[in-house]
Amino acid sequence: MATTTYESPNMQRLEVLYTRDQIAERIREMGAQITKDMAGEKLVMIGVLKGAAPFLADLARAVSVDATFDFVAVKSYAKGSRTSSGAVKLIKDLDEPIEGKNVLIVEDILDTGLTLSYLRKLFLAHHPKSLRIAALLDKPSRRIEQIEADYVGFSIPNLFVIGFGMDYSERYRNLPDICLMPPDAV
Ligand code: IMP
Repeated sequence: MATTTYESPNMQRLEVLYTRDQIAERIREMGAQITKDMAGEKLVMIGVLKGAAPFLADLARAVSVDATFDFVAVKSYAKGSRTSSGAVKLIKDLDEPIEGKNVLIVEDILDTGLTLSYLRKLFLAHHPKSLRIAALLDKPSRRIEQIEADYVGFSIPNLFVIGFGMDYSERYRNLPDICLMPPDAV
């Protein structure tokens, strides 16, 4: 496994799980599949802030259908915690109505499934034409709610990851690669 050095005061060394090139290639493939599935249709891509922002930016540019963006924000993780608190709260709602539209929820990680189950239920109540989910990472072994993504970048075991939008206590989101969170890191 490759390592990268993070420019922090202690120059932490991090193990890279997926390099920026591997991520870019996988997102290109996902974009091609979505383009095929949505041919001739319009799409609203809804990013789940903040973690999905880099993924949405890249995925949107890999999709060549008529697409618009919207964003929601939820709170589902206790600050500094590596385990879900179980509670999901909407802290930023959609800007535009989604009734009758093809919706693609774009999320960084599908973990316990609590966040996406909550959002799916919320969005379905608005009667979209269709509703699909794209998750860059999937941790199927952690699932509490029965939910699957229609498009998955990489399926991973129960590891805590950082980078490419994903954080630990709001840090590390700007790492260009997906790295493993060292167990002893702060
Ligand atoms: P779920 O509701 O348990 O499926 O959690 C989804 C959210 O938990 C993701 O959008 C992330 O914000 C966060 N999360 C889950 N696993 C990780 C991880 O390994 N690193 C960083 N954030 C994570």
